Amino acid sequence: MTAPPRPRAPRLIAIASGKGGVGKTWFAITLAQALAAQRHRVLLVDCDVGLANVDVQLGLDPDRDIAALLKGGSLDACAMHVAAGFDVVAGRSGSGALSGADQVAAERILDALAAPSRWEVAILDLGAGIEKLQRRLASAADTLMVLTTEEPTALTDAYACLKLAETDAPGGDRRIVVNMASSRANGERTAAVLQKSCARFLGVTPPLAGVVRRDARVADAIRRQTPLLTRHPTAEAARDVEAIAGSLLAAVA
Ligand SMILES: Nc1ncnc2c1ncn2[C@@H]1O[C@H](COP(=O)(O)OP(=O)(O)O)[C@@H](O)[C@H]1O
Ligand SMILES: [Mg+2]
Repeated sequence: MTAPPRPRAPRLIAIASGKGGVGKTWFAITLAQALAAQRHRVLLVDCDVGLANVDVQLGLDPDRDIAALLKGGSLDACAMHVAAGFDVVAGRSGSGALSGADQVAAERILDALAAPSRWEVAILDLGAGIEKLQRRLASAADTLMVLTTEEPTALTDAYACLKLAETDAPGGDRRIVVNMASSRANGERTAAVLQKSCARFLGVTPPLAGVVRRDARVADAIRRQTPLLTRHPTAEAARDVEAIAGSLLAAVA
């Protein structure tokens, strides 16, 4: 008989962008559900402390959250299981939101995630921008997924985000996701523009993790506070995220 695998620290996958509103939270949730459906044990941590909204998109009414983690609570005590098949550390609960989002908070979150646990993968939904907390989490992640849309402003901000990441953790594993793409081909073209800037000015070419097409069913699912893979499992955007989930861990296994 072989011994059961020893618990390890989860692999950290951070979801970032320069610009807000590009779909980070939605993508983080959908990726978590897709990985869970592929039989991975997944923890989703809402690190967007200013605008915590994993709970809103999932229709949760959390009774515990990341603030408890910062007060020294364990991940186990702060996480809640959701019907979509994974666990969530909410960004806020009725007991109050996290304040003092600083370096200490980042180290506390990273310490908790560095301990062996029952999760194989921890997905960190980061806020927009370049606050210290977000920056530290982004640089500590095993994989940083940077989201952009086809809009020039999103693209410029995604480049800035990749540049900071390269400064903080040179040579790290960073991948591009083009969300709300008007077509696969247009999404790929957008990624190529970003890759070209990275190659020219940063000397690295982050691979394209995938293109997620714009899909009206995403907004419908969010309005109903139900994950897309539950509400519209055959939606184009659902399939696109499933494909990303499939290749994400295959590449690191
Ligand atoms: N693939 C998509 N197709 C259509 N709409 C999308 C898609 N991804 C995200 N959205 C829309 O973008 C909005 C913002 O998403 P959100 O996850 O809150 O972004 P962020 O966390 O980056 O601020 C959502 O309310 C949703 O309606
Ligand atoms: Mg968000």
